Amino acid sequence: MAKIGILTGGGDCPGLNPVIRAVVRKSYIEGFEVIGIKNGWKGLIENDTLKLDLESVSGILPKGGTMLGTSRTNPYKKPQDLQKTKENFKKLGLDALIVVGGEDTLGVASKLIKDGITNIVGVPKTIDNDLSATDYTFGFDTALNTATECIDKLHTTAESHHRIMVVEVMGRHAGWIATEAGIAGGADVILIPEIPIDIDEVCGLIQKRHQRDKTFSIIVVAEGAKFKEGMITQEEKLDEFGHVRLGGIGETMAKEIEKRTGYETRVSVLGHIQRGGTPSAFDRVLGTRFGVKAVELVKNKKFGRMVALSGNKIIDVAIQDAISTLKTVDPELYEISKVFFG
Ligand code: F6P
Repeated sequence: MAKIGILTGGGDCPGLNPVIRAVVRKSYIEGFEVIGIKNGWKGLIENDTLKLDLESVSGILPKGGTMLGTSRTNPYKKPQDLQKTKENFKKLGLDALIVVGGEDTLGVASKLIKDGITNIVGVPKTIDNDLSATDYTFGFDTALNTATECIDKLHTTAESHHRIMVVEVMGRHAGWIATEAGIAGGADVILIPEIPIDIDEVCGLIQKRHQRDKTFSIIVVAEGAKFKEGMITQEEKLDEFGHVRLGGIGETMAKEIEKRTGYETRVSVLGHIQRGGTPSAFDRVLGTRFGVKAVELVKNKKFGRMVALSGNKIIDVAIQDAISTLKTVDPELYEISKVFFG
């Protein structure tokens, strides 16, 4: 009986449990055994695993997060960790490993393939939706709906108090959540990492709006949006993949806007609320389709491949194609959002 390992790495997102459930259910039909590796690459370094059967995945479909746990552990940080990763892969007797992750987790998968652990299949996930080679990653739709709902709630209080409301959303390098939640929530300005902020222009747009008798405005800003001088970070400490912790752009924007326009301004940082909670129907379906396809790739020994969404079809692409470039916001979509600025 073939033995498949599965791990979920990097930031969690809604839709991971539907993937795990689909992998286990499809494997059962194919006669494969499934071993869950806990907490991403950390579990492979520490040989921390659990057997996954039909019973263990029962009831997890609507739950957010990941029943396997996750971490931002990078086995390439220390030579002994890499050694352990390779040893445990053998010790566990894995015929294949399904790696569910974003650019960092899949980046490790791609390196391992080059280093001789070739029997790997990738599944893309991130709320940021910034992975190439797939039209959407699961997690994004849920995050987008959460952010939109929050913007709707902020709208009513902004309107009542005649305030400017700055809403900071996630999006490290790409402003997908900001752009789409901004469009869906009727934002008056949307600021994304792809385009440096021009604070004079932002204030000009708000003032123009107020001259039209509007007494409130909503500004959506992605956490990774930057002034020409660079990103605003919470702390300089880097994680194991070399990322700084972002946050603070909303606060800075709010202060600047109030100072320059005189309009009372507040900030709301949505933070990890966007990553939590029950997955949307779209993310449950996408995660399920990805999970089933991942097992099919294992069955057909199509290793080094990643499942992906192209239009409405589930296809497979080289893992490398997903991580070599970042999928930034479609300029045409951003242009559409600008029709509603000011
Ligand atoms: O999952 C990606 C992401 O949501 C980024 O947008 C954000 O910068 C990061 O995760 C924060 O993750 P954490 O606080 O878990 O390290």
